[in-house]
Amino acid sequence: MTATTSRTVCISGGTSGIGAGLVGAFIEAGDRVVTFGRDPEKVAALAQRRGQAVASGALRLLVGDVTHADFREQLVAEIRDRDGRLDVLVNNAGVILSQGDIEETVEAWRTTLEVNLIAPFALTQGFLGLLEQSAAPVVINMSSACAQHPFETCTSTSYSASKAGLEMLTQRLAMALGGRGIRVNAVAPGVVESPMWGGASDLIDSTVKRRHRLRQEAIEPCDVARAVLFLASEDARRITGACLNVDAGYALG
Ligand SMILES: NC(=O)c1ccc[n+]([C@@H]2O[C@H](COP(=O)([O-])OP(=O)(O)OC[C@H]3O[C@@H](n4cnc5c(N)ncnc54)[C@H](OP(=O)(O)O)[C@@H]3O)[C@@H](O)[C@H]2O)c1
Repeated sequence: MTATTSRTVCISGGTSGIGAGLVGAFIEAGDRVVTFGRDPEKVAALAQRRGQAVASGALRLLVGDVTHADFREQLVAEIRDRDGRLDVLVNNAGVILSQGDIEETVEAWRTTLEVNLIAPFALTQGFLGLLEQSAAPVVINMSSACAQHPFETCTSTSYSASKAGLEMLTQRLAMALGGRGIRVNAVAPGVVESPMWGGASDLIDSTVKRRHRLRQEAIEPCDVARAVLFLASEDARRITGACLNVDAGYALG
């Protein structure tokens, strides 16, 4: 893979699971990372785990909710004032609030769409001016294998619909921003054991066994991070509007 010089990277929801893997991977690649989540305890725990990176300025952490316009403005201002540009935006923060196809509440639907679909649009819009200051700007959206088929293993209709919307948003933004040199892509993981699953190891085991066609192996956050690093790299300079499945064959059905 082509080496990259130090970039400014903003990752939403980097305090847990896949996002924490992304934070580590970009820091190890020599980039400056800004990340955030709502829970101050998770933010403090990540700061402690990554103390050296925080001390060197390679990692900056904020507490905030990506669905709040005030917080998004604060985030954009922070990066504008400290870095003067943004090279990579990873819209990773996501929630799955409930299971049950038709039993989900409208309130759960609204929140899911706010976090998983509207916030990636709003953050991209908010960062546009700073992305345009970059020599190689990239936006990467964290989709899911659930976006592509109505798998019975994911019974949250709002989650699947939000991720399907995110994949179309990825294509629309790639079209809209291509003329400005901004690439927009998505990554769609299969099942990755993370706090999002709330410790449902049995469900993960059965899902992995049935759906991960590639030797029924589990997917780790580092597998997702490799794909994101590739899409963010110069090696992917002609790739935009794409969705890269990192699902061990899950979406094959
Ligand atoms: N795990 C899987 O099997 C899997 C598969 C396919 C796709 N994905 C996608 O991958 C992404 C990461 O999932 P994960 O499994 O790593 O989940 P996770 O461990 O629950 O992490 C989610 C992250 O997003 C943050 N977050 C959630 N809502 C937020 C909000 N309103 N504002 C700011 N931050 C918020 C969380 O921090 P706070 O809670 O403190 O806010 C946390 O840092 C999600 O988009 C998810 O849909 C996951």
